[in-house]
Amino acid sequence: MLRTNLTILLIVIGTLAVYTGVANMIPQVASEVPEETTIGADVTPDELAAIGEELYVGAGGCTACHGLGTRAPDLVGVSGTTCATRREGVGCKEYLYESLTEPGVFVIDGFQPIMPDMRRILSEAQIWALVAFLQNQGGEITVTAADIPPEGAGGAAAAAGGTGGTGGATSPGIDTAVTDPVELLRASTCLACHQLGEEGVALGPSFDEMAGRQEAEYIRRSILLPNADTAGGFEAVAGTMPMNFGDQLSAAQLEAIVRFLAGDR
Ligand code: HEC
Ligand code: HEC
Repeated sequence: MLRTNLTILLIVIGTLAVYTGVANMIPQVASEVPEETTIGADVTPDELAAIGEELYVGAGGCTACHGLGTRAPDLVGVSGTTCATRREGVGCKEYLYESLTEPGVFVIDGFQPIMPDMRRILSEAQIWALVAFLQNQGGEITVTAADIPPEGAGGAAAAAGGTGGTGGATSPGIDTAVTDPVELLRASTCLACHQLGEEGVALGPSFDEMAGRQEAEYIRRSILLPNADTAGGFEAVAGTMPMNFGDQLSAAQLEAIVRFLAGDR
């Protein structure tokens, strides 16, 4: 009997050890800034599309809006017939690139202009990888390595890293000159999901009701680690808030937002 118990205990410990090992091998999803993918000059279109797919389901944050309900258009087959009907005289490749970098230029009927400018969080190479992935949804990949500007030619600073205080010339973050909290909420795309007065979208909790109800420390943590807590009543949409605001905002900008939301208006 004792032997059997011991054997079972050993099996349990062994199994736990294996799973812990495996868990440690899986990269942590939380706190992930889009990884700096080194995309070489000899990358093939198929490799680009594969990198794009990883970004699409992962660090790009696209699935926060696309593929779920009706907030954003379904992208299945986007490069087949859809692309051709969107903008007269604009090729599919150019249209997809524009959708990711200047989403405001053409807003599809029936949708709100909430799609973020992806240059804020992704490098040029990563954006082209996403275009390749999207072209692969029903069309032919015509993106090649030649479309990707050489490293350093603007925008290619996806992994500027560090929390706050980035803001150098190559930072993908929000212009450090902006310090007005309401302007910051607009520039950081917060209003794509939160309401402030007449502005914004009521996907997450309203900013109007936050003042006086939430401590500054809680608000700061909610912005830097959106998955640390889930606002009551918003369980269904937990996980949609992007996790990279800490890298886009300078420390001063973050504090300006926190003070404002905590009720110091
Ligand atoms: C905050 C929500 C949101 C996020 C995040 C988002 N999008 Fe969008 N996207 C939209 C909405 C809404 C539209 C339609 C309105 C418009 O045209 O801007 C759209 C439009 C598009 C279009 C044009 C589709 C068409 O049928 O013409 C493409 C392509 C696209 N998004 C790709 C992406 C990719 C790739 C990502 C991730 C890197 C992404 N989006 C992230 C909301 C979002
Ligand atoms: C793509 C959508 C999206 C964007 C963009 C977004 N949020 Fe959120 N946010 C949410 C959702 C959904 C929740 C509620 C679920 C949760 O708590 O995780 C939330 C929760 C919060 C909370 C906690 C509220 C509470 O009462 O617990 C704060 C604070 C917050 N967001 C601030 C911001 C700020 C500031 C920005 C811009 C820098 C921002 N959010 C951008 C979707 C978003």
